[in-house]
Amino acid sequence: MAKTKVAYFCQNCGAQYPKWVGQCSSCKQWNTVVEEVVQKQPKNTWKTSTNGSSRTAKPLPVHQITNESEIRITMLDQEFNRVLGGGLVPGSLTLLGGEPGIGKSTLLLQIALKLPVKTLYVSGEESQKQIKMRADRILPNSQNCFVLTETKTQNIFQQIVATEPDLIIIDSIQTLHTDYIESAAGSISQIRECTAELIKFAKESNTPVILVGHITKDGTIAGPKILEHMVDTVLQFEGDRNYVYRILRSLKNRFGSTAELGIYEMQGNGLREVVNPSEVLISNSEGELSGTAIAATVEGIRPLMIEVQALVSTAVYGTPQRSATGFNAKRLNMLLAVLEKRAGFKLAAKDVFLNITGGISVDDPAIDLAVMVAILSSNADIPIEKGICFAAEIGLAGEIRPVQRVDQRILEAEKLGFSTIFISKSNKIGIKKPKVEVRLVSKVEDVVTYLFG
Ligand code: TYD
Ligand code: MG
Repeated sequence: MAKTKVAYFCQNCGAQYPKWVGQCSSCKQWNTVVEEVVQKQPKNTWKTSTNGSSRTAKPLPVHQITNESEIRITMLDQEFNRVLGGGLVPGSLTLLGGEPGIGKSTLLLQIALKLPVKTLYVSGEESQKQIKMRADRILPNSQNCFVLTETKTQNIFQQIVATEPDLIIIDSIQTLHTDYIESAAGSISQIRECTAELIKFAKESNTPVILVGHITKDGTIAGPKILEHMVDTVLQFEGDRNYVYRILRSLKNRFGSTAELGIYEMQGNGLREVVNPSEVLISNSEGELSGTAIAATVEGIRPLMIEVQALVSTAVYGTPQRSATGFNAKRLNMLLAVLEKRAGFKLAAKDVFLNITGGISVDDPAIDLAVMVAILSSNADIPIEKGICFAAEIGLAGEIRPVQRVDQRILEAEKLGFSTIFISKSNKIGIKKPKVEVRLVSKVEDVVTYLFG
């Protein structure tokens, strides 16, 4: 009987060891190395008859390499297209990560249903019936989407040869297993091997493949880190499950920029593309409410007007509470300290709650001024006049600092009918005569005097 071959893999970075070690020497994590059974057999996984394997590549001077623009498969989904940098590149591997229940399967099934080309949706997680039920909610009567429930790569390849699809979606890479490795599905060696087989298939047949990847507790894609190096594009689907908005970002893209961003709204019949996000992120409440302020932020390269809500109330217990949703809590504490020290507001005995509407989380520092104004407005119970928005960072000395892409923010404010935007005095504005009034401020006090008298 053949001896079972085992190897040890770090669950964090995928490094391989011949025997167990307590600390992974490549990523320095402790207790991440586990035993996995690997059985090496002669491989004949994916073979295409068209590409002769004897062909070898030759070096070429760079000026002789033709750069005809690649023909991409355009998705019938503007947001997805935009994040990919203008459609799927043939033969590319795309990895879509996201928390469970965020809508990864829904997004990909929706894309497959809408496409006029033949797609094969391979699911290792749901039955054909379940997928059919979901498809009926999204787009019934689609002709070109084939559904396969299978987890063994060899069988999947057999079906691919029979169906000849133009796009393959695998939901998810963690459920696949190949015959050549004996460890359980989802283990490092299985994920690595299955991905390698799919890459080989994609490159040789020039068919794009989209993989769904689960993420771990700390938000990284489960499996070896090299998984992200192996694929061409890594997308992340994120949002708060309790809210309807979802953001699609690209973390790595060999064929386009990673600054693009797609926004969706989860509805009863699938995900709706949000073409004009600023309009939906601002609640159009009738009366003026204290504690809300609008920030002109830029996510990636896309301008977004976001509503910040703050509630300041007297602390009931000795230690006041500070809580922030969608905004860094440490940054909130820093802004409160600046208000206390530089602008003389006594907030030490107050509870402060902060919320970014729509369940979106923002790291753009330009939101600082809006956060501060929302807190002051709630504290004084004086609403901010309608039509005012803010875009500036706040420094530790209470100075108002410039932000990048200020012209884009001004134009977005203009487009949405704002009357005034507050920005830093040191920001250089490229627009000649903006239709909104641009107020240049340099200190927190200037803003306070203007808004609250
Ligand atoms: P799902 O796409 O299965 O998430 P993932 O594959 O990332 O785990 O589930 C998305 C959630 O969205 C699920 O809880 C049900 C909900 N949903 C809708 O609200 N509308 C819809 O049309 C569909 C299909 C799902
Ligand atoms: Mg799913």
